[in-house]
Amino acid sequence: MTGRDEILILDFGSQYNQLIARRVREQGVYCRIFPYHLSIEEIRHIAPRGIILSGGPSSVIAPGAPLPDPGIFDLGIPILGICYGLQVMGHLLKGKVDPSQQREFGFATLSQTGGGSRLFEGLGASFQVWMSHGDRVSQLPPGFIVIGTSENSPVAALSNEAGRLYGVQFHPEVVHTPEGAQILGNFVKKVCGCAGDWTMGSFVENAVEDIRRKVGEGRVLCAVSGGVDSSVAAALVARAIGDRLTCIFVDNGLLRHEEGVRVQQILRDRLGINLRFVDASARFLKNLSGITDPEQKRKIIGRTFIEVFEEEASKIGRVDFLVQGTLYPDVIESVSVAGPSATIKSHHNVGGLPETMKLDLIEPLRELFKDEVRQVGLVLGLDEDMVFRQPFPGPGLAVRILGEVTGEACGLLRKADKIVLEEFKATGWYRKVWQSFAVLLPIRSVGVMGDERTYDRAIALRVVDSADGMTADWVDLPPDLLRRISNRIVNEVKGINRVVYDISSKPPSTIEWE
Ligand code: XMP
Repeated sequence: MTGRDEILILDFGSQYNQLIARRVREQGVYCRIFPYHLSIEEIRHIAPRGIILSGGPSSVIAPGAPLPDPGIFDLGIPILGICYGLQVMGHLLKGKVDPSQQREFGFATLSQTGGGSRLFEGLGASFQVWMSHGDRVSQLPPGFIVIGTSENSPVAALSNEAGRLYGVQFHPEVVHTPEGAQILGNFVKKVCGCAGDWTMGSFVENAVEDIRRKVGEGRVLCAVSGGVDSSVAAALVARAIGDRLTCIFVDNGLLRHEEGVRVQQILRDRLGINLRFVDASARFLKNLSGITDPEQKRKIIGRTFIEVFEEEASKIGRVDFLVQGTLYPDVIESVSVAGPSATIKSHHNVGGLPETMKLDLIEPLRELFKDEVRQVGLVLGLDEDMVFRQPFPGPGLAVRILGEVTGEACGLLRKADKIVLEEFKATGWYRKVWQSFAVLLPIRSVGVMGDERTYDRAIALRVVDSADGMTADWVDLPPDLLRRISNRIVNEVKGINRVVYDISSKPPSTIEWE
């Protein structure tokens, strides 16, 4: 995209990198994260207004430490080094960095020195910061002054004001540095001169232009699932090219209560999107009959989805592009995200689209974080219910029905799950947690209803907090809420006589039961 202010973040492996990007974007300034070894030519090509060197777990004085091309300091572009990034500056600009036996970790008070830096404009003489580092700069690089000290860090912040080079030993991006947003704002606006006019409204305008340019007179296909990403992507493309976009929604019979109806109401009726709704529930249930193994269920559902999708797509005629709801965290080629996380997720790609279709991709959300996608959804007129929907697995209720997936089991679970949803939405808990749902267990237990003995199935209630689905913890819900949900399920869903609450964290458990 051209003509807009951009900040470039060089990634040295800090767990906070995406947070830095989020904070910069909250200032209305577009930014992207790149590996630390990005070449000078590439940086020149991007022409950023400023560069942020991130934190990282390494030591600049250790052999093989990750270091950027030293030429970045000769580009005349303002640079802010954070934690490890500050030490990179100290090291490459001929100061001295010493190892410290003790890591400094936690809250500290930073006192401004040196007569006031542009980086700290508008802040008090001292303020609270969050430290997390081992090494420290023991000798300033030539041309630099100390602009902040703390009890344990004589050089807690430094600058070369004329060269527009700044470094902070603390983390301005975390909430424990309450003035952090202002510090990052000072850097990107006052030092780098960014206007701060990158909003979700302006994003939509630009994205619509880009999509029109790319698609020309072509036709576009999009699979929608009812989830946030595919719905927002579809709405954005529809705004750009109207009914040259065709969306396909496959009802696999494994959706939550009235999910299929809602998707049609919002996408077709409200937004006027050209939507083909395929009720394939009987076909999915037939293919799943007699199957109890979780992985086999996933494979069958994935395969059936592709068959149905291809059949439907073939009815549309010529198509040139396929929309995908890829988000920015999937795109970042970051040194910090390489590792086991990439492989744990692979089994979640079930429900992906046929590779054989060989269509050009349109990924209108690939620059955005999830919360930005939600804002775009609101700008485009999607309702809050859809925009703030909790994640829902592609194989749907099939991985929440332990044992065989039958029409009857789907009916039972859907009724119990509807009650969970209603109670969570009514109490405001729905948006406070990562996921909240019911699971149908394959056992029967004895109960008593009126004067009659029952021998019915049990529901497990699963409610977790998580940042990304990779780890999760169960939520300590108010007893009132648990009691109401349990009472309602047992009273209102014939065939269920017991409700249990799942108190396992991930790891060692997983969020879904299958
Ligand atoms: P687990 O159960 O592995 O789930 O702790 C982590 C997150 O992924 C979702 N999930 C899936 N999503 N297809 C999907 O699209 C799947 O097969 C699948 N399995 C789990 C789960 O809901 C949670 O958010």
